[in-house]
Amino acid sequence: VDLQAFNTLQVPATARYFLELRDSELLEDALTWARERGLDTLFIGGGSNLVFAGDFPGLVIHMAIQGRHWEQIEGDEATLVLGAGENWHDAVLYATKSGYRGIENLALIPGTAGAAPVQNIGAYGVELCDTLVSVTAFDRETGKWLRLANDQCGFGYRESLFKRKSGRYVITEIRLRLSRSKPLQLGYRDLEEYLASLPDREPDALSVAEAVMAIRRRKLPDPRQLPNAGSFFKNPVVTEADYGRLKELYPDIPAYPQAQGVKVAAAWLIDQCGWKGYRDSRVGVHNRQALVLINHAGGTGRNILELADRIRESVRKRFGVILEMEPGVVGGAGLSPIV
Ligand code: EPU
Repeated sequence: VDLQAFNTLQVPATARYFLELRDSELLEDALTWARERGLDTLFIGGGSNLVFAGDFPGLVIHMAIQGRHWEQIEGDEATLVLGAGENWHDAVLYATKSGYRGIENLALIPGTAGAAPVQNIGAYGVELCDTLVSVTAFDRETGKWLRLANDQCGFGYRESLFKRKSGRYVITEIRLRLSRSKPLQLGYRDLEEYLASLPDREPDALSVAEAVMAIRRRKLPDPRQLPNAGSFFKNPVVTEADYGRLKELYPDIPAYPQAQGVKVAAAWLIDQCGWKGYRDSRVGVHNRQALVLINHAGGTGRNILELADRIRESVRKRFGVILEMEPGVVGGAGLSPIV
């Protein structure tokens, strides 16, 4: 089965077997089927956060479990339950149009609800873990179904238990606690500036979602037009001492203090190394956001990963900072499956 349509970088790759899973009750049968044949399994959602380095010789399971409903509506609060295969952005619009707040800053993030906890999606000052109540998952190690509460999910910046124990948990459903009245998060610079440019009016969840959409459309390429996987690197966290040295040499370096260390903008580091807008015959770096790698014309996963290596090397040489990739790498020799 051709996987090109199942990854937003649109690199060529095939799966030996492919299953579209619409019902969580069939999951265990699918896993047994693969185990009996000695096949590895790979779970994919929207394919917006992975790079196929080569073909996948096992069973690819496309998580297509649909469904959304409300639970525990009490006062201003309600819990939104989303099947793993629900499109994330559609869920954001659905919640905000229903008047609920909590995920409006996460509008237009590509991918599915089930993939959202894996990398704890975040944007414009909000992360999924701020509203997530629980994750329903099948634990392949113990063979048990679990409902993991927020504090059991090991969330961090673009981090979670599901990412660290890649392949162990299969997420089938998530629950988010939303509110009609909690304060909007408007402090992120781009968002603040954008809202300030609009006619004076009290923002609501929907207008924040619309602002985020406008900002993202201005800076981030639409994967259907310019195939990409969003931010290709995480913003690195450096020690206070290293930050001090960098700041002395580069006073403009954008930085965000953390509980431990200082997060610096990977996009800025890459941009300074002259990569923004770079392209060869196949792949390149977006001309408005240096964090995004683009598959311009028939590039392979290897082409993308080679470019990523060159970028990492130049940033390491110039700034002494090691960039970590954000998407998972699958397929090809010696690479392990991810959720
Ligand atoms: N910058 C540059 N050159 C560029 C782009 C940005 O110098 O080409 C500078 C900007 O001027 C700014 C700083 O870098 O001072 C940070 O840029 P921006 O605010 O655009 O955000 P980011 O750190 O590049 C992160 C997330 C995005 C998220 C935005 C908004 C990561 C790895 N990326 O980007 O997430 O949308 O903040 O919150 O944390 C994603 O994960 O796929 C993603 C798009």
